[in-house]
This record gives sequence, structure tokens and C-alpha cells, in this order.
Amino acid sequence: MDLGLTGKVAVITGAVGGMGEECARILTDEGAKIVLADLRDEGGEELAHELGDALYVHTDVTEPEDIARMVGAALGRFDTIDILINTAGIGGRGVASAADVEGWDRQFAVHVRGTAACIKEVTDRAMIPNGYGKIVNVSSLCNHSGQGGMSAYCAAKAAISQLTLGGARGLGRHGINMNCVSPGNVRSPMTEWMFSDPGREESVRKQVVFGRIGDARDIAYPIVFLCSDRAGWIVGADLNVSAGQVIY
Ligand SMILES: NC(=O)c1ccc[n+]([C@@H]2O[C@H](COP(=O)([O-])OP(=O)(O)OC[C@H]3O[C@@H](n4cnc5c(N)ncnc54)[C@H](O)[C@@H]3O)[C@@H](O)[C@H]2O)c1
Repeated sequence: MDLGLTGKVAVITGAVGGMGEECARILTDEGAKIVLADLRDEGGEELAHELGDALYVHTDVTEPEDIARMVGAALGRFDTIDILINTAGIGGRGVASAADVEGWDRQFAVHVRGTAACIKEVTDRAMIPNGYGKIVNVSSLCNHSGQGGMSAYCAAKAAISQLTLGGARGLGRHGINMNCVSPGNVRSPMTEWMFSDPGREESVRKQVVFGRIGDARDIAYPIVFLCSDRAGWIVGADLNVSAGQVIY
């Protein structure tokens, strides 16, 4: 099946590392042009160089000026934006108590406000005028299952799922498909701490129906599918990508 992604322009936030980077690699193989938005400047420049038809722009998604500059750079280089993948995220370990005001604010600033701001900037300046777009946001299975000691992260991820469901119909009227994925626990830079603990690794392994730990590519393929016209009839979905770790 040809995904029809040749020549499409994709902006990926959190693009230097785990899922975002895998999405960039798969999309490049499919013939897309990539804008990598992240804080990891050294890795970002190297990745852009390696991918070829790609641009890295230093972007903190909690800073509206950064987002505006990144979208301007994307339009300057590629003229349009067809795809937005919001993978920028931070771990939530230990942010549970309401007394940790900074931790809660950071979780919501990166995950919720950052995702919403990127959607607004990209849709206002490219997708709505074009009457075309694909947006995939990254939530988490913990929105559906909970995760001890990570209340703020779980709450922020629930907000990502809900902003997807809430906004999908309105953007759909402009020809934009917005969906989200809820990944299970997979290996990535974010979860190094989790899988370096044999007890935790064993616990996740037992929950996954295949008895193995997944990796960022296992999540990136379904994300890329949702970015294609082959997924054109999917609007407002929250896709469970956890290999049965949680079934809801
Ligand atoms: N790995 C998992 O098991 C798992 C499970 C469920 C959900 N998720 C979510 O998937 C997404 C991708 O995570 P990953 O596992 O690839 O982790 P990762 O740490 O490899 O990737 C996250 C990226 O986001 C970037 N980032 C962080 N703050 C940023 C900011 N303010 N502005 C711009 N970029 C920023 C980081 O530099 C990093 O490159 C995250 O939203 C994460 O919460 C991960």
C-alpha cells in the first residue's frame, strides 16, 4: 500500500530522540520533507543533515515565539505544512503531589499548552488556508490506566486526548484530520530509567501480550499511518498502541 506521503511536509515536535525521530525516519523513507522541532540542537542539526530534505529549528514548545519562528522557518523552506506530529514531552516521574506546583505547571506547559499552541500556529498559517492537514498528538496509556506517582503526567496526557477529541470535529470542517495515539511503555530515551530496573522491565513485559518490550518504532508506524490519506476516514480517534498492555 502506497501511503501517498511523497512530497508532503511534516513538522515534528520532540523530533530528536525516540518516537519523533522514528517518525522522521519513516516519513523520510516515504518521500516526505521534515521539519524537526526540538531543544536538542546538536542532535537535531545532525539528524537534519542525515535525513537530507529536512530542517532543524530550535523550538521550545512552551515558548509561543519559538513556535511562531519554527513555523515561519518551515514555510520559508518548504512553502507549506501538511502534517503536524506533536511528540514533544517530558517524563512525569515523581510529579504527583499538588504541592509540587512547578512540576505540575511544567507538565501542563509542555504537554497541553505546547501541543495546543503548535496546533493553532500550524492550522492558522497553513492547514486551514490550504483546506488540508493531518495532525497526530501523543497521549499515553496512563490516561486510560493511571500510573502511580505520576498524577500530573497522567492528567496532562488525559488533557491531550481530550483536546484532540474536542478539537477534531471543528478542524475536520477545514479538511484536517486530527487524532491522537496512546502508547504503552516502550524503550526510548524517556524510559531508560524504567527499563534499566529489571523489576519494572519484567512487570511491563508481563503486561504486553507478546511478552517483549516494544520500541519507539512500534509507535511511530501507526502515527505515520494516521498522517496518510489512507487514514483519511479517521477523525478524533485515540488509538491504543500498547500491544495489550492496557485494553479499554
Ligand atoms: N516512551 C514511552 O514509553 C511513552 C509512553 C507513552 C507516551 N509517551 C509520550 O511519547 C512522546 C515521545 O516520547 P519518547 O518516549 O519518544 O521520549 P523522548 O524523550 O525520546 O522524546 C521527547 C522529545 O521531546 C523533546 N522535548 C521535551 N521538552 C520539549 C520542549 N519544551 N519543547 C520541544 N521539545 C521538547 C525532548 O528533547 C525529546 O527529544 C512524549 O510525549 C511521551 O510523553 C512515551
